[in-house]
Amino acid sequence: MKIGIVKERRPNESRVAASADTVKKFVALGLDVVIEAGAGEGAAITDAAYREAGATLAKTGADTLADADIVLKGQKPIGPGATVRGTGDEVAMMKAGATLISLMEPHRNRALFEALAAKDVTCFAMELVPRITRAQSMDVLSSQSNLAGYKAVIEAAEAFGRTFPMMMTAAGTVPPAKCLVMGAGVAGLQAIATARRLGAVVSATDVRPAAKEQVESLGATFIAVEDEEFKQAETEGGYAKSMSDVYKQKQTALLVETIAKQDLVICTALIPGSPAPILVNEEMVKSMKPGSVIVDLAVEQGGNCPLSRLGKTIIKHGVSIIGTANMPSRVSIDASILYAKNLLNFVMPLLDLEAKKLTVDFEDKIVKESMVTHAGAIVHPVVHGIVDAPRSAGRRRTASNSSTTQNVTK
Ligand code: NAI
Repeated sequence: MKIGIVKERRPNESRVAASADTVKKFVALGLDVVIEAGAGEGAAITDAAYREAGATLAKTGADTLADADIVLKGQKPIGPGATVRGTGDEVAMMKAGATLISLMEPHRNRALFEALAAKDVTCFAMELVPRITRAQSMDVLSSQSNLAGYKAVIEAAEAFGRTFPMMMTAAGTVPPAKCLVMGAGVAGLQAIATARRLGAVVSATDVRPAAKEQVESLGATFIAVEDEEFKQAETEGGYAKSMSDVYKQKQTALLVETIAKQDLVICTALIPGSPAPILVNEEMVKSMKPGSVIVDLAVEQGGNCPLSRLGKTIIKHGVSIIGTANMPSRVSIDASILYAKNLLNFVMPLLDLEAKKLTVDFEDKIVKESMVTHAGAIVHPVVHGIVDAPRSAGRRRTASNSSTTQNVTK
């Protein structure tokens, strides 16, 4: 059984889907690992390190993918019609019947999933792995968001013309920076911890009641409209719901005063599958002191601040608004090591080492929730356009034998 890993070629991507450590583990399990030459460059993993770990190096992406049974990627493959410099259609390069495991942006890519299904590729989207205890070690959203929250504060510190900690000097006292974190999920909590370590006075807001204790345990102040809607704002999956207009108005009224006093705002608030909630409007930006900094980690989902621009830093009303694309990739070495480990942990339970193939249990919650294409069909309702299709219908069509397990890769 062969695993293929190509160089990531999408813009702003420096990560790679295998580390020397994960290659070693796959090889020890008896798998062949083929890596495109130069794939680890952006994450400081040399071809020699991969070779030493037991991988074979291939010259091109096409050579890497041609007979790979399992394809591990950081970002969705380049599909038909997409033009990314330095590569062709990666879906066309894959062999029919291969299994692809990658971040896929499943809410946006129907055409790509159609191409994968047409090629009979079984595709798992790592964003869809459920947040259950058994899957914690596979949770790429957590491993990557944690790094993004850290790096967002470091980028804010770089752009901020002042210091974070209070400094008492003979020439005068520098007050501590004030930092507000919007959204206290994985990224937000790490942003709080990082800003606190650097010496800022930190507050944070969220709509989920569970966030309050977590924010306070990190030594930050929790600010939120704690009404009846707030008490019901968390979905069964632990995510935030979209809030009503009435709640949003109350939240804005509460935040207006707070934001005017902040030097730094780190935006991390997201609703899975929906545009990011707008939390910092232009009036609020205007109210901040010149020299203040906003980092909008939600920019790829539209942003928590409508002024932020993807991949750009702009200065508006004297405030720097940073819209870095793919923040985890800015810490590409650690991001790759953790991401590769998440993938290894995802693949391991699927391996039937004796039979040298992947065996997928269609009744397994992790498989059910993360498999997007299989046996020539799109099998996940989240893919745009089939949200109303009953989930089980597509799945039953593909898992047609009486057993609940099926061999995916030979
Ligand atoms: P996320 O990235 O989807 O959203 C970030 C934060 O924004 C969330 O805390 C959310 O409540 C908040 N938010 C959304 N709308 C908002 C608004 N209008 N105003 C203020 N804040 C708003 O969330 P993330 O980081 O992926 O975490 C989601 C959940 O998953 C959390 O409950 C977390 O505890 C849970 N989780 C569970 C894990 C597990 O293995 N069991 C691992 C990691 C996270």
